[in-house]
Amino acid sequence: MKIVITGAGGQLGKELVRILKETDYTVFPYSKKQVDIANRSQIKEMMEKVRPDYLINTAAYTQVDLCETELEKAYLINGIGTYYLAHEAREKKAKFFHISTDYVFNGEKHEPYTEEDVTDPRTVYGKSKQLGEELALATYENTTIIRTSWLYGHDGNNFVNTIKKLADYSQKIRVVHDQYGCPTFAKDVGIALKQLLTKPAGIYHVTNNGNCSWFELANEIISFLNKKVDIIPVSSKEYGLKTPRPMYSVLCSKKLNSSGIFLRNWKDGLCEYLKKEADNIDY
Ligand SMILES: NC(=O)c1ccc[n+]([C@@H]2O[C@H](COP(=O)([O-])OP(=O)(O)OC[C@H]3O[C@@H](n4cnc5c(N)ncnc54)[C@H](OP(=O)(O)O)[C@@H]3O)[C@@H](O)[C@H]2O)c1
Repeated sequence: MKIVITGAGGQLGKELVRILKETDYTVFPYSKKQVDIANRSQIKEMMEKVRPDYLINTAAYTQVDLCETELEKAYLINGIGTYYLAHEAREKKAKFFHISTDYVFNGEKHEPYTEEDVTDPRTVYGKSKQLGEELALATYENTTIIRTSWLYGHDGNNFVNTIKKLADYSQKIRVVHDQYGCPTFAKDVGIALKQLLTKPAGIYHVTNNGNCSWFELANEIISFLNKKVDIIPVSSKEYGLKTPRPMYSVLCSKKLNSSGIFLRNWKDGLCEYLKKEADNIDY
């Protein structure tokens, strides 16, 4: 069975390639340089050549602040690009998997979001990802949407790596204490996705278990690193982010769990990640 992965150079893409290469599937990874998902003819050519059984899209324009000013790019990659992929997957009868985000929700709920909750994104990034979900689902019934949150992976541009870097030269780090979500190790999403390949299509929420604030996450990282750094809790308002993030975007994993797939607690995933980083394993 053949699997194409687009966005293979990203933090989730890399983990997924590593995980699926250890299985009986034959993996065809495509980075942005090899296949631009906003380029329909490149997708067509690649799908014609490989004729995969599965197409997994991890590619996205993920820079939340830049999306606010580069609307066209955001909607083209995250919206229309996803449609191109879903359409070609349908043409080749390949099962389509697309990664989405907790930012499709408005963050006003006080309990975990389920797959049935209404989406109501408040940022261009969230709206472009919502568009991608809707176009894919409307285009091809054999589409699976995997929503995840607060993702981190080796070499990635993410909160965990930012705090690690800051801890090397700062004595005080200001971190938002009133936004809640679930930090998720890209490797764990990859493992779940491998299991989802054989499950019915649909929307699934896939995150590590439990939840915390950015402040709690930063403290967990600093305590693992055993650094003398003061983490100063600040409100979202005080911090003054250019683009507001959802205040609460915890995703409910019940549907995933009832499919027999369970992810570990976020602290355990983080601990493995930081240990590997400390061992300086070459990824
Ligand atoms: N990061 C998070 O916290 C988070 C949370 C929830 C959901 N997600 C979703 O999870 C998925 C994976 O995210 P990630 O954190 O692994 O992101 P990432 O590290 O930014 O990886 C995305 C990859 O897509 C590539 N890309 C961008 N535009 C492309 C295009 N037009 N054609 C092909 N490839 C393109 C990027 O290449 P360049 O870097 O060269 O541009 C990058 O290699 C995305 O769908 C994202 O929306 C992420």
